[in-house]
Amino acid sequence: MEHSGTFIVLEGPDGSGKTTQIGRIETYLRERGADFVSTREPGGVLVAEKIRSVILGVDHAMSGLTECLLYAAARREHLLQKVIPALEAGRIVICDRYVMSSLSYQGYGRELGDAVLDINKRAINVDGFEYWPDMNIYLDVTPEIGLQRIHEKNDGREINRLDLEAEGFHRKVREGYLQLVRDYESQFTTVDASQNEDDVFADIKEVLDTLLFKREAN
Ligand SMILES: Nc1ncnc2c1ncn2[C@@H]1O[C@H](COP(=O)(O)OP(=O)(O)O)[C@@H](O)[C@H]1O
Ligand SMILES: [Mg+2]
Repeated sequence: MEHSGTFIVLEGPDGSGKTTQIGRIETYLRERGADFVSTREPGGVLVAEKIRSVILGVDHAMSGLTECLLYAAARREHLLQKVIPALEAGRIVICDRYVMSSLSYQGYGRELGDAVLDINKRAINVDGFEYWPDMNIYLDVTPEIGLQRIHEKNDGREINRLDLEAEGFHRKVREGYLQLVRDYESQFTTVDASQNEDDVFADIKEVLDTLLFKREAN
């Protein structure tokens, strides 16, 4: 259904700084007095958080297609229970990961290809309307930098089943993201996430200002 909200997704590999930057986005939007919801995938609502723990548990070996279906199931519940109600109320939704994560991790990383797009189109279709984000902000870093960041600082962040995949997997995921940016050009803004936190946020702020506060700026 048509809605008056704005749906913004942070994308990128683990260690690219999504959680860090979402914290900054929240502070900024609060300062601007914006009406927003900040959430994450997989999870964000009870049943999806339960699916998350099944997907990410380090001893939960499963096929790539099972993984893809579980992500899609969690995505749909989160969309139905949390994202759509917020968008229909005209709010801004900031979400940590969405469909592009599945296309890169399961489509490219697990080499499931187009099956992932088919499954996800179904998962985000509600009453004939596909809920694609207004913008994916893609935080681009090499796997070396991303993995180094998550392994070097023991700051409470969980190391999950996908983090523990071999380097080749993470390389395919990044190549996947770069291909998706080419294939879905109008849905993406790429930010160089190898920069320091302040500079990454400065780039993100420009995207937010254009999307959310354009009329005020002119
Ligand atoms: N621009 C940056 N430069 C250096 N380290 C960073 C930067 N952004 C985040 N970090 C650190 O990298 C680690 C992973 O960041 P996090 O925000 O959890 O990434 P993600 O949510 O994408 O996995 C954290 O320890 C964080 O403090
Ligand atoms: Mg994170």
